[in-house]
Amino acid sequence: MTNEELKKEILKLKKEKNAVILAHYYQIDDIQEIADVRGDSLALAIEATKLNSDIIVFCGVRFMAETAKVLCPDRKVLIPEINSVCPLADMATKEEVLKKKEELGNPTVVSYVNTNVDVKTVSDICCTSANAVNVVKSLDENRVLFVPDRNLGSYVKEQVQEKEVILWDGYCPVHEEYSTKDLKKLKEEHPDAKVAVHPESPKAIRDMADFIGSTSGIINYVSKTDANEFIIGTEEGILYELKLNNPGKEFYIIGSKSVCTNMKKITLESLYRALKDEIYEIELDEETIELAKKPIERMISIKRT
Ligand code: 13P
Ligand code: SF4
Repeated sequence: MTNEELKKEILKLKKEKNAVILAHYYQIDDIQEIADVRGDSLALAIEATKLNSDIIVFCGVRFMAETAKVLCPDRKVLIPEINSVCPLADMATKEEVLKKKEELGNPTVVSYVNTNVDVKTVSDICCTSANAVNVVKSLDENRVLFVPDRNLGSYVKEQVQEKEVILWDGYCPVHEEYSTKDLKKLKEEHPDAKVAVHPESPKAIRDMADFIGSTSGIINYVSKTDANEFIIGTEEGILYELKLNNPGKEFYIIGSKSVCTNMKKITLESLYRALKDEIYEIELDEETIELAKKPIERMISIKRT
């Protein structure tokens, strides 16, 4: 089938099966185009709870689909590619977190949503890059173990100096790649461009930015900022939304290409197959859902930055 035929079939199956398609901003353009909702990881988790459908097809990495399942246990949650995982999430296991927590004398565990679901079951509260600062500020406790992203964690540490934030040593391989040399070169080539980067970027990159924020934060910043050129420090899938909302503006990605290969595993073919054969279903046991729900719901009750 051609892409246009696949899109038609997907929309037909979606209607027949009362399904909704949620797509993260890092998905390929064709998937973002036909999704019911595009969003960042926090918005998609919240959106999943509001949509009235029998099936949720989550086009993102596995921890995102797991979060949707935890929040909507009665719904069938599908991910088109079961191997679409987040390497950052895999940098912390439940056992490692429990061990570290004990060694450190029981600090409050704040886990980034980019964790596998069993890590959430032993976390006190979750956060996303959109609300991490507010989540940590909201805590009564003063000692925090921030799992697993050291870059987002160090950004939070800078913003919430009144608390002791202990960092895990994980990182996102996509954002970790950015070099100050590439960014300097882009800034020289486009001296009027504003620089907007994701907080998963290393500190040296964040220090050169005009704006630091989640994918939705970057999208809002670009729309409301009166500049014609922007240097973007996050995965290139974000360009779909940026170009759609800002037809006259120019965008340059740090290092010219920034691709999360896991996000890109989902294709129109796999989305079609997911809807047709109802695969791959996210299945979690009741206890995991109950335990993981607490830190996620606690996070949702905190205001966004
Ligand atoms: P957002 O929470 O900004 O959508 O980011 C998710 C992610 O995986 C960043 O790499
Ligand atoms: Fe994970 Fe990085 Fe891909 Fe985001 S961009 S899903 S943090 S590997």
